[in-house]
Amino acid sequence: MAGYVVEPGGRIAWNLHVPGDKSVSHRALMLGAIASGVTRITGLLEGEDCLATLRAVARLGVRVQRPAPLEVLIEGVGLHGLAAPAEALDMGNAGTAMRLFMGLLAAQRFDTELVGDASLMRRPMERVAQPLRDMGARIETRDGRPPVRISGGMALQGIRYAMPVASAQVKSALLLAGLYAHGETTVVDAAATRDHTERMLQGFGVDVTARDGVVTVRPPGRLEASQVEVPGDFSSAAFFIVAACIAARDPVVIESVGVNPTRTGLLEMLALMGADLRLVNHRSAGAEPIADVEVRPSRLRGIRVPERLVALAIDEFPAFFIAAACAEGETVVTGAEELRVKESDRIAVMARGLEAVGVRHEVLPDGLRIEGGPVGGGVVDSHGDHRVAMSFAVASLRATAPIEIRDVANVATSFPGFAPLARSAGLRLEEIP
Ligand code: S3P
Repeated sequence: MAGYVVEPGGRIAWNLHVPGDKSVSHRALMLGAIASGVTRITGLLEGEDCLATLRAVARLGVRVQRPAPLEVLIEGVGLHGLAAPAEALDMGNAGTAMRLFMGLLAAQRFDTELVGDASLMRRPMERVAQPLRDMGARIETRDGRPPVRISGGMALQGIRYAMPVASAQVKSALLLAGLYAHGETTVVDAAATRDHTERMLQGFGVDVTARDGVVTVRPPGRLEASQVEVPGDFSSAAFFIVAACIAARDPVVIESVGVNPTRTGLLEMLALMGADLRLVNHRSAGAEPIADVEVRPSRLRGIRVPERLVALAIDEFPAFFIAAACAEGETVVTGAEELRVKESDRIAVMARGLEAVGVRHEVLPDGLRIEGGPVGGGVVDSHGDHRVAMSFAVASLRATAPIEIRDVANVATSFPGFAPLARSAGLRLEEIP
């Protein structure tokens, strides 16, 4: 099983550019598929998760051309033009792909089955299946988990749904199903979550309104093909933002990063810890704001993380826990039980990793309490979780001995090229078979 060995003493430097945003890439591929006309996507994340979506789109009868690296042309087949796939659609490790496809496929004329890798086959799907059933869909899960079997030919009815969990995936699945429903579909957020679907639907000409956590979509006659420029993924930039806080000598700039305010809770959390961060060179990539993130080396202090920031930083907690381990004093995260149902149980798996490198901590049902202090060396099992693997690579910058990280192949799901980029930035990282 592939791993990393990361020697201590690296120093983070340079201007960096991270790959495209995973959430935006998935959505662009799906909306392009059901639009009328050719959608051009540039800066696509060519990680395994988005490639699973790309393959699924092709298996649903959509022609996809790849004229250049990171560029895709999708010949949209229109809202009702998707065709039955010959076999089950394999979503790999991608929870976003599976949940958003559930919404999109619930209203088709044909049946589909969605499967994934061992991690995805353990993840909860009823949170999407149940409200889709309320809309009239027929969907089966196995004890709440994949495989997901969707029956075609069902007429959907728009609903108003108050989400019990803060989840952009649930919201997005319902909005996609709502494109096909009779009447409007309204989703009420439990807390603000990423709004890429709402923004992108508007870019494809759909009537979507979003205000005060209430999103309503009205079924369009068609989606107009669009151009999507995918911003750099804030969640990938996060590893280098934390790295720069804890181990830079000079300012580090991460260029052209998506800074949609529903994604950047980490910046606020680090600022509360005393980090010296700023966003410069603001511009936009279509419907999404982008900027360069400038980070200066900082002395971090432990904090109690405001719960309102949890959903706005949901994918950044593995990296944030490393920042907390390198801070002075105690950091407490609560209200983050959703971390337990990500690619791994990120509370348990991060806690085991912190244990392995000698960081004192306490596991809470819905978070972690971490005592900042020295980070040692050790062997960390990422349990196949890409973000856990990359976080412990960053921890090496402050470690007193090498950290070996096991089971890192899934880094390719979200951050192809992480290892060479990390090395060029100054991490002393070696890949081992
Ligand atoms: C995502 C939403 C989040 C996030 C995931 C991507 C999306 O999941 O953790 O990595 O693209 O909508 P939840 O909706 O389950 O919180």
